[in-house]
Amino acid sequence: MITSNKLNSDSPIAFFDSGIGGLTVLNKVKKVLPDESFIYYGDTVHMPYGEKTKEQLLEYSDNIFRFFEEKGCKAVVMACNTTSSVIYNDVAGKYNFKLYPIVQSVAEVLSGLNIKRLGIFATRATIESKAYSKNIARYNQNIEVFGQFCPDWVHFVEENSMDKPENIKIIKADLDKMLANEPERIVLGCTHYPFARGMISQVVGDKVAIFDGGNGTAREMKRRLSSAGKLSDAEGKGKVEFINSRNTAEELELCRYLLNRKI
Ligand code: DGL
Repeated sequence: MITSNKLNSDSPIAFFDSGIGGLTVLNKVKKVLPDESFIYYGDTVHMPYGEKTKEQLLEYSDNIFRFFEEKGCKAVVMACNTTSSVIYNDVAGKYNFKLYPIVQSVAEVLSGLNIKRLGIFATRATIESKAYSKNIARYNQNIEVFGQFCPDWVHFVEENSMDKPENIKIIKADLDKMLANEPERIVLGCTHYPFARGMISQVVGDKVAIFDGGNGTAREMKRRLSSAGKLSDAEGKGKVEFINSRNTAEELELCRYLLNRKI
């Protein structure tokens, strides 16, 4: 095992999620940190994380984190709202890399908004954990959070079936339910959902601004790595390695394609 003091600025930054969702975050991070090398681990076998128990999430992430330790990663992004919400407090400090949970970073940014009503779309596990409202309330108690889980959306994204008429109907019904709360902003609190952003924006129109955590996470990582003196200086030599628990050529090819597509 590589101990933390052997990790240097050129060690890779790892990302993980239940499938392709975390690519929406890696896409943004790669833009602001172009010299870094990245590892993306998609745990498609265990998707959807949002319907799993805390014990299951701890078991899956322990296997992934041990693998990241073996790979000598200097930082790991929990590019998954569900694991950030449910298990971050249990795993923080247990491994020899710095852990970046997406929900906690995004909640801090959201708490600075001058609004009273905030809508969050996320998985069942994220909504039931109340991680967004609790983390926002640490900084700002004046924002009321309306959480809604949409278990179907993850499957629509993974199957690329957002455009099917029957699925558009489901997405529209979920959005209408949320809009009834009159939110001033809507957060896509699951990293899969930005892949459906075109469809979501079509329904919501310009009534409510939609926010996802990719850009905020990217800025936060750059700031933290820079202040820890851990930014890579491998100018233009950054690479991306894809790993998938299903381990098929199609799965890896899909990741490569999606990462380079405009999200
Ligand atoms: N994309 C993940 C999240 O941000 C998990 C989705 C799932 O597998 O349910 O929560």
